[in-house]
Amino acid sequence: MMNNLSTKMTTTKAPTMTTETKITARDVQVYYGEKQALRDVNIEIRPRSVTAFIGPSGCGKSTFLRCINRMNDTIASCRVEGNILIDAENIYDSKVDPVQLREKVGMVFQKPNPFPKSIYENVAYGPRIHGLAKNKAELDEIVSIALQKAGLWNEVKDRLDAAGTGLSGGQQQRLCIARAVAVSPEVILMDEPCSALDPIATAKVEELIHELRENYTIVIVTHSMQQAARVSQRTAMFHLGELVEENDTDKMFTNPDDQRTQDYIMGRFG
Ligand SMILES: Nc1ncnc2c1ncn2[C@@H]1O[C@H](COP(=O)(O)OP(=O)(O)O)[C@@H](O)[C@H]1O
Ligand SMILES: [Mg+2]
Repeated sequence: MMNNLSTKMTTTKAPTMTTETKITARDVQVYYGEKQALRDVNIEIRPRSVTAFIGPSGCGKSTFLRCINRMNDTIASCRVEGNILIDAENIYDSKVDPVQLREKVGMVFQKPNPFPKSIYENVAYGPRIHGLAKNKAELDEIVSIALQKAGLWNEVKDRLDAAGTGLSGGQQQRLCIARAVAVSPEVILMDEPCSALDPIATAKVEELIHELRENYTIVIVTHSMQQAARVSQRTAMFHLGELVEENDTDKMFTNPDDQRTQDYIMGRFG
């Protein structure tokens, strides 16, 4: 009896079952100049779980992802309205420093983009500019831990001074994940992180996402529905600038509520 109960309690605490919220978007509108790219986006994203954004090309997935760490600030024509809260703090508040925000909300891009520097320097850069290490030994430790978390340590530990750009595509993407992880973010945003990778490198990154989920809130844009189904617990479907449905991934791919989701996952468009 006692055993049953404790099993149940553990199950309730599993990431897929949590009803806590890490990120809340309320009535988000995004414009590029006159053109509206996103309309009335409302979503609550759960901590320590993976949320996948799917939908046809041009529907606004990347635009919304970039709202979450204010990367759209860097696009002159882009205007964001509405509220995005992380841990109940409005990240668009004037007292929020976007550089500090991006330490908390890391990002991994479609094409691996290591700096033209050594493997070590790629990972050490963030911790150094944010002053996270007191001395060289501490920095070495941070670099080594980040590379371990990114599943790359064994492959590079003997050549930390080699150029990051000399690694294979899949290794470069894991290096970029190590770089994101090195500053101890709470949220990691990934915009089609596997689209430039072969199937083996993709499988490694997916395995990594699975492990990272224990400690980070992960939001991943993917054009692959198989990938969304494999890596995520929640899935959000965008279409023509609207968030049309957000649901448990299992339900999304078996019995979605919205006709547009059904059409998309059946391959009727997109
Ligand atoms: N930098 C930009 N300047 C102007 N329009 C943009 C820019 N980025 C995206 N858009 C437009 O916003 C819409 C959504 O794009 P995007 O967020 O990239 O979609 P997705 O990632 O789903 O393919 C598209 O119509 C796209 O052309
Ligand atoms: Mg995109």
